[in-house]
Amino acid sequence: MDAGHTPHCRHLRSLLDLSSEEARALIARAIELKRMQRAGEDHRTLAGKALGMIFEKSSTRTRVSFETGMFQLGGHALFLSPRDTQLGRGEPIEDSARVLSRMVDGIMIRTFDQETVERFAEYSSVPVINALTDRFHPCQLLADVQTLVEHRGDIRGKRVAWIGDGNNMCHSFINAARLFDFELRIACPEGYAPDGAIYAAASDRCIIVHDPAKAAEGADLIATDVWASMGQEDEQAHRQALFAPFQVDDAIMARAAKDALFMHCLPAHRGEEVSASVIDGPQSVVWDEAENRLHAQKALLEFLLRPAA
Ligand code: CP
Repeated sequence: MDAGHTPHCRHLRSLLDLSSEEARALIARAIELKRMQRAGEDHRTLAGKALGMIFEKSSTRTRVSFETGMFQLGGHALFLSPRDTQLGRGEPIEDSARVLSRMVDGIMIRTFDQETVERFAEYSSVPVINALTDRFHPCQLLADVQTLVEHRGDIRGKRVAWIGDGNNMCHSFINAARLFDFELRIACPEGYAPDGAIYAAASDRCIIVHDPAKAAEGADLIATDVWASMGQEDEQAHRQALFAPFQVDDAIMARAAKDALFMHCLPAHRGEEVSASVIDGPQSVVWDEAENRLHAQKALLEFLLRPAA
């Protein structure tokens, strides 16, 4: 069957490609895979499978977690940089997607543009995974939810505060609020709110307050991200001044619930979006969060790449 004509092929373009039931099952499987890996139990469920990994942007966590994850599941991961492939020399996405689909069992893409992921998915006959675009970072949210569940139990009904830019991470938290049924309070500077359509679809669970102290009030989790993402380096100085009142510091954490957690997808800038006292303090779970990229993505890879029993 030719690429583009495979109605049963599942993708992860955003979290909303999953149902709530599937997303919850993925988190449970991620926790089980973590236990199995730590216990040294055989879990090579993707033996003989290959994942193509296209990185248009740099990465530490995403690359290492996908590559190690495929290895631990008994499969293989191929690092594909556009600089070293014909993608970087103008081969159309449609052709690249069709060709890769004939050779690998899944395609992972980190790119500046959500449209690239959408077009790959349209022409690929194997699952396509969004590993970060300008719009979404769904794999990070799977790890974040896993981390909260591990530390605090079910996320349903919890209150989460997003403080900072209304960026791809904020968009994914909004989608996660829909899927996992939690309350999300967003504090961002005027003019840096999340996309209106993404927010509107979850407006029964999300509220934009603009005031970081108000967003943090009673929260079970406080999360933030860098103030200037990759590709926004030219805006860095302007953003630093504008976002300064949105730093997550001890005063913000004091507004949250007593046992509130702090998360950051990393890399972080201490003294900018988060104080060193918070990210290196007792409420921070950023290292568990980073590790859980591995386990959550292994659950996702199994879900998408494993043949039906
Ligand atoms: N959080 C995250 O996606 O990290 P990398 O940019 O290192 O992959």
